[in-house]
Amino acid sequence: MLHWLSFLLLSNLVVAFAASISTVPIPLPNSPRVLRRDLYGYSIEPSSVAPYLQSRLASKLLGHISEIAGVPAPIRVGGNTADQTLFDRTLRVPFEALPNDTTVEVLHIRKDWFQGWKEYFPRGTNFLYTLNLRNETGSWMNAMEEAKAAMGVLGDSVSLFELGNEIDHYIQKGWRDAGWDTKQYTKQWYRLTGQILSSEFYKNATHKPVFQAAVFADPPMVPDQQTERDDFDIINVTRAGLVNPKMIDTYAVHLYPQSTCDAVRRARLSLNLLSDHHVVWRNLSQYIPQEAAARAAGSRLVLGETNSVSCSGRSGISDTFGAALWATDYVLTSASMGIERVYFHLGHQSEYSAFTPLPYDYQGERLTAGVRANFFSHLFLAHVVASRNADPWKITALPAANASDFSGYAIFDNESSLAKLVFIDLGVWNSTSGRHNPSTLSSTDSTSTSPGTRPRRTVKAQTPWNPGTLVEILRLQGPGSNAKSGVNVSGVGVDPATGQLVGPMKVERGIVNEAGIVHCNLLQAEAVLIQKLSRRSRFTG
Ligand SMILES: *[C@@H]1O[C@H](CO)[C@@H](O)[C@H](O)[C@H]1NC(C)=O
Ligand SMILES: *[C@@H]1O[C@H](CO)[C@@H](O)[C@H](O)[C@H]1NC(C)=O
Ligand SMILES: *[C@@H]1O[C@H](CO)[C@@H](O)[C@H](O)[C@H]1NC(C)=O
Ligand SMILES: *[C@@H]1O[C@H](CO)[C@@H](O)[C@H](O)[C@H]1NC(C)=O
Ligand SMILES: *[C@@H]1O[C@H](CO)[C@@H](O)[C@H](O)[C@H]1NC(C)=O
Ligand SMILES: *[C@@H]1O[C@H](CO)[C@@H](O)[C@H](O)[C@H]1NC(C)=O
Ligand SMILES: *[C@@H]1O[C@H](CO)[C@@H](O)[C@H](O)[C@H]1NC(C)=O
Ligand SMILES: *[C@@H]1O[C@H](CO)[C@@H](O)[C@H](O)[C@H]1NC(C)=O
Ligand SMILES: *[C@@H]1O[C@H](CO)[C@@H](O)[C@H](O)[C@H]1NC(C)=O
Repeated sequence: MLHWLSFLLLSNLVVAFAASISTVPIPLPNSPRVLRRDLYGYSIEPSSVAPYLQSRLASKLLGHISEIAGVPAPIRVGGNTADQTLFDRTLRVPFEALPNDTTVEVLHIRKDWFQGWKEYFPRGTNFLYTLNLRNETGSWMNAMEEAKAAMGVLGDSVSLFELGNEIDHYIQKGWRDAGWDTKQYTKQWYRLTGQILSSEFYKNATHKPVFQAAVFADPPMVPDQQTERDDFDIINVTRAGLVNPKMIDTYAVHLYPQSTCDAVRRARLSLNLLSDHHVVWRNLSQYIPQEAAARAAGSRLVLGETNSVSCSGRSGISDTFGAALWATDYVLTSASMGIERVYFHLGHQSEYSAFTPLPYDYQGERLTAGVRANFFSHLFLAHVVASRNADPWKITALPAANASDFSGYAIFDNESSLAKLVFIDLGVWNSTSGRHNPSTLSSTDSTSTSPGTRPRRTVKAQTPWNPGTLVEILRLQGPGSNAKSGVNVSGVGVDPATGQLVGPMKVERGIVNEAGIVHCNLLQAEAVLIQKLSRRSRFTG
């Protein structure tokens, strides 16, 4: 009782000092999309898997996610080095990265390289493994050996194979001749998958993985990011005949809104640009026709590899609380467009990695192993998708919460009744605290400070919920967009050394007012999850 009273008093105070009120009517579900519980996954660079497995950190962190969300995060092992991976049964060690694991030109592996993955990641983790499509010799002997070894060791944990990584960069890399196009690719794709399907090891297996096709890098509508002249996109490749709903679970595209790969795009890098819902929308909406083509082909589109900034990220942008808010908005916008899964890329020494397993020397600094601020997007979204039962959630983006600095989503249960709301304030607030994180470059610690007091808005959601219904509110919060530490989900932080969750969760309680109105305050640079409490938790929680 004390709890609600204090909430009511608090919310009155908040209204009195609020800088702005955002009134958000919640419409009936309008062609809602599926919100999967395993919507947030990771893509691990093949040469980084062994370093990740050398520390308990990722195992611990993903264990929390699995417990909160109710399902483990899917893991893709893929990236540039997938097409530089050579299977060698005569290797004297399980794997060897040459010249070294920072600069990998070739990754030699043997069967037992796959060992330990299943045990390291939370129980039930699904793996996607990218086979080398570059090396065609001996009818893809190399890819066949990889597939056989992966299935042999991972068994029913390997659910998908990809054939090659970013195959729309193959001409530019000199791995295919000019003229490499959707037709040639489709032919090769059927030939290799046909070989796999008719092999002893596949026919023999009790669990048969299927495929994630396409794996294209270049965004269809950004002219200065077309690496080579080709015709690769989902519309063209399905037109070329790469359609098979039984074998093709998903098509993958890769997306990095910003880039440090070249000088032109490096000059545009900005935290402000990341913290903008309209930019998120612009970056993702170019995939609407691609998503429709995937669905028309009987499969789904996923972001098979993504992160804030391509070519390993940019510290000071990729590893901030602003990036956590961006990732939260990005994943929910994707889901509301029908892109049901997003895999964030990890390199063991990359600036965008949400967590890094081992200390390392980088740009003249000694970085610790640790957890970066962007990881908290995953912790928060795990609560967003959490559920008491296995029925699927549906999601829709809210037209009345669709500004550069403000977005909102409604989540419905299997009977189309409103269950949860998420609001994100993407406005940039730069703080003087939490600027440093010893697992990131101190040379990129922010020196910017926003003037005045941090603005706060009151969100007034007009819900179909009955007056008197209890709601609980969880908060993704941090000192500011520029913060690299001090981030938490309703008081729960992460010990960067052990990956343990720290601190009790302080869940705010609220009550639905007359006419279904729910009030909630939201700081600039913050996100909230408002969920209706089921009758059961009213008495137990
Ligand atoms: C890895 O190899 C590259 C290329 O030979 C070299 O420049 C770099 O110094 C090496 N790094 C380490 C940590 O040995
Ligand atoms: C794979 O391709 C590379 C580049 O063409 C070549 O150097 C290497 O020998 C090939 N290896 C195998 C096992 O086919
Ligand atoms: C097929 O399965 C049998 C029985 O499990 C096993 O002995 C045999 O080695 C398998 N063959 C291949 C090619 O995996
Ligand atoms: C799809 O194919 C058409 C016809 O070949 C081509 O004009 C177009 O550029 C292709 N789309 C992409 C994104 O490459
Ligand atoms: C994302 O949007 C920003 C802002 O419009 C733009 O600069 C960038 O090129 C876009 N990136 C992609 C990959 O679409
Ligand atoms: C949000 O605004 C964009 C234009 O900036 C529009 O295309 C999109 O449909 C809007 N989304 C919703 C959910 O209303
Ligand atoms: C929705 O889920 C509830 C709880 O699991 C179940 O009792 C109900 O039958 C489901 N309704 C539909 C339409 O699937
Ligand atoms: C916030 O700080 C970042 C650097 O950390 C800077 O790039 C950005 O311009 C600042 N934004 C505002 C609105 O002050
Ligand atoms: C959580 O973050 C907020 C915002 O930075 C801060 O005010 C609060 O003290 C933090 N809570 C804990 C327990 O760290």
